[in-house]
Amino acid sequence: MASRQENIIEPAAGEPRRYLVNIDSASTNQLFTDCLVVGAGIAGLRAAIEAARKLKVLVVCKGKLENSNTWKAQGGIASVLDSDDTFESHIADTLKTGCGICDKDVVAQVVRRGPELINQLLNWDTKFDRTDGQIAITLEGGHSHARVAHAHGDETGRIIAQALVKKAGQNRNIRVLENFYAIDLLTDDDNKCVGIIGCDGQRGAQIIWAPNTILATGGAGRLYRETTNPEIATGDGIAMAYRAGAVLQDLEFMQFHPTTLYIAGASRALITEALRGEGALLVDNKGRRFMKDYHEAAELAPRDIVSRAILSQMRKTKATHVYLDVRHFDKDFFAKRFPFISELLESFDIDIAGDLIPVRPSAHYMVGGVKTNRLAQTSIGNLYAAGEVAATGLHGANRLGSNSLLEGLVFGMIAGQAVSEDTSAGSSHMNRPLIKHHIPHSDRTRLDTDDVRNALRALMWRNVGITRSDTPLAEAQEIIRFWQRYVMDKVFDSPEGFECQNMLTASLLIARAARKRRESRGTHFRRDFPDTDDNNFKKHIEITSGRLAKPPHS
Ligand code: FUM
Repeated sequence: MASRQENIIEPAAGEPRRYLVNIDSASTNQLFTDCLVVGAGIAGLRAAIEAARKLKVLVVCKGKLENSNTWKAQGGIASVLDSDDTFESHIADTLKTGCGICDKDVVAQVVRRGPELINQLLNWDTKFDRTDGQIAITLEGGHSHARVAHAHGDETGRIIAQALVKKAGQNRNIRVLENFYAIDLLTDDDNKCVGIIGCDGQRGAQIIWAPNTILATGGAGRLYRETTNPEIATGDGIAMAYRAGAVLQDLEFMQFHPTTLYIAGASRALITEALRGEGALLVDNKGRRFMKDYHEAAELAPRDIVSRAILSQMRKTKATHVYLDVRHFDKDFFAKRFPFISELLESFDIDIAGDLIPVRPSAHYMVGGVKTNRLAQTSIGNLYAAGEVAATGLHGANRLGSNSLLEGLVFGMIAGQAVSEDTSAGSSHMNRPLIKHHIPHSDRTRLDTDDVRNALRALMWRNVGITRSDTPLAEAQEIIRFWQRYVMDKVFDSPEGFECQNMLTASLLIARAARKRRESRGTHFRRDFPDTDDNNFKKHIEITSGRLAKPPHS
């Protein structure tokens, strides 16, 4: 772990309540499992497969399986797969990108497990792309060696996820519930997680009791107006864990991806960095290649640098976007290597032979999250976290491209293994506490949650975006707290309402962490503190509600 850490304890005023809904565990529908996994991206599925070696596992996900961020991942999965490459080089690149606050042991742990777990994926029928019989590997920004494996060109996430879904589907110990919304983590008097309360469209509120729970709820890109993330990525895991009293870490580090397709009025879509790895250039609205003005590695500079350079060039040229230039690519190669993007561009009548691709940065990956140790354990007993929702220490202040699928794979496996080795993990051994929580009625005005979400996402983009400074961050907190007064006092009965509450909570935490880090490091850039300050900030920023996760019995 990087040296010192700082705890921020949220003051009681404005606190979200412990639970978002009224609970009486004695009269709520109940399900039981040995191991509960919340989320079905790469981390959740890999955890389930591992835990199911010994236990009955229930996986819940709030949408369909294909709605996860994993499914959308284009670029690939980074690992040392070439005899000329070394673990030391991958470790060094990860540490350099993380800007001094990675956990070195975690970096080594993840990097060294990579080849073995990718090999396992191959055995589970994942069809990675190949060149001359070997797994094809490509270069991405920040990597000093080609080491990014991809599948079906730019559909790596989908291909891996489908292989994991198939593997999980063949295991009689694993049951998956789609469209099940996890509202809150349930904790007992000893601050141990005992499952969740959630709901689905048919049966209303349900408690799922589990001796161990693995949180794998993914990211939070949807807190921002501009994002590459699917609709489900609303920061639910962060908010749920916060309400339960877990320690959260490094929430100021939201990674912005430099190149998101920008077509006014259309939803945003990721244009993989692998395009630049294969030679795509960034040009401004005058057709001028500009990245060399900002960094010697030009288009292959780390993502935070490319994102800020694009923003600066947009300002200089008074444009809403810049362009990717792939006109020099062979069209057949492009269609084969990037089938998803080819189809996407065609749907907008963009012909890569003659047209430029309009792009601009957007929120992409939450580097921080629920703090975990090397066994994927959180600060709450019997609660594990893996994947994007977790802050394992791998990424430090910035994530090296394509290290996230690798992290999900490794820490999913670790979490599943840790749970399966818990000898008391059978649900029949479990003590189920009586949990009662009553929320008083509020007469305050009911705001339209769609309006709040849209306004919040615009606020986060403007005030807590790619570059930040104190006054806008303070204003963002003030405005979010104002909305919270009218949204957090209500009891909703639909995922849209819970999501809005979670989005307000997660956004406020990000703004607070961003305000606290009065320096620039990795993905976090402060206009008022543009330098890195190792003396005061070579450390993590931790946030906790300061509340013992004790359910209020009434
Ligand atoms: O550009 C990309 O394909 C993104 C990869 C990643 O976020 O790791």
